[in-house]
Amino acid sequence: MSPLATTDLTPAFLRGLPKAELHLHIEGSLEPELMFELAQRNKVTLPFATVEAVRAAYAFSNLQDFLDIYYQGAQVLLTEQDFHDLALAYFRRLHADGGVYAEIFFDPQTHTDRGVSFATVIEGLRAGMATAEREFNIRSKLILCFLRHLSEAAALETLEAAKPWVDRLAGVGLDSSEQGFPPSKFTQAFAEAGRLGLKRVAHAGEEGPPAYVVEALDLLHVDRIDHGNRALEDEALTARLVRSEMTLTVCPLSNLKLCGVPNLAVHPLKRMLELGLKATVNSDDPAYFGGYLLENYQAVVDALGLTRAEVLTLARNSFTGAFLTPQEKATYLEAIEAYSIANPCLTPL
Ligand code: ADE
Ligand code: ZN
Repeated sequence: MSPLATTDLTPAFLRGLPKAELHLHIEGSLEPELMFELAQRNKVTLPFATVEAVRAAYAFSNLQDFLDIYYQGAQVLLTEQDFHDLALAYFRRLHADGGVYAEIFFDPQTHTDRGVSFATVIEGLRAGMATAEREFNIRSKLILCFLRHLSEAAALETLEAAKPWVDRLAGVGLDSSEQGFPPSKFTQAFAEAGRLGLKRVAHAGEEGPPAYVVEALDLLHVDRIDHGNRALEDEALTARLVRSEMTLTVCPLSNLKLCGVPNLAVHPLKRMLELGLKATVNSDDPAYFGGYLLENYQAVVDALGLTRAEVLTLARNSFTGAFLTPQEKATYLEAIEAYSIANPCLTPL
């Protein structure tokens, strides 16, 4: 790596670069401080005495370790106001990071299974999104995720409950424990989502094998792959992803925290870009993984020595892979080009 390659990729440059976030679980943006505030507001008892004790518990060796604590934390979310506050707190951070657009996941089953109505969850989140658009000029869309450790029947019930709001959803996704819960389990639910005109995405190849990525493509007919890291183990699959210009929503700090990589210097992101994959950078569950969107960009720039051209490609990919119209994408891409011209590289390479 040339030390000059990253010279102009300062935090200020990365912050000002227009960026979209395409892989963010809104429940994973619940900071311990807000968790305590909501627990108090809603008279929910937490198994932690202090904010510091919560943070100390965020040492994970795999995805399941994290999910156990993530579902526990979500129990403080009860009212529309709670979901509004959660979403707004995330958008405030995104704004500070120079994010201008987001497609956010939510896990309705985590809430409906506790007696919180679908209406409460979605109306609260939509209120937060509306406030963010007013206050920060950030536009956003919702992606409803099915929990893959639950049954396909439960996913279909969730989709049925979502029908009154279907025109306010961008798509459906598939998340939670990956190993042992292949995409093929949700073929019917994803087919029904397709009939409803929804876009489709799925976590695949985060911990699971390349075969799960193939299933997501062939059986769920996904428009994006969330993570996709392990796809690189299969040459033919990698070539297929390049050929089809499939967007991968990669989450570097998440991969580090969940021990998908031992350190960021060996993270596959740079290789993905070199192979021509449409990789993007995202934060996944930033309250748990130690960084929001900008920290993820900065971390991979520092660890992988990404070039300015690579960083611009990542930002462009975040809009070309978004569920936006061609005209909307063109407007954001023009903003990136204008930013690049206004902030030329000052260091001779
Ligand atoms: N739910 C929240 N974060 C997730 C992740 N990284 N993988 C799978 N399910 C999740
Ligand atoms: Zn995720």
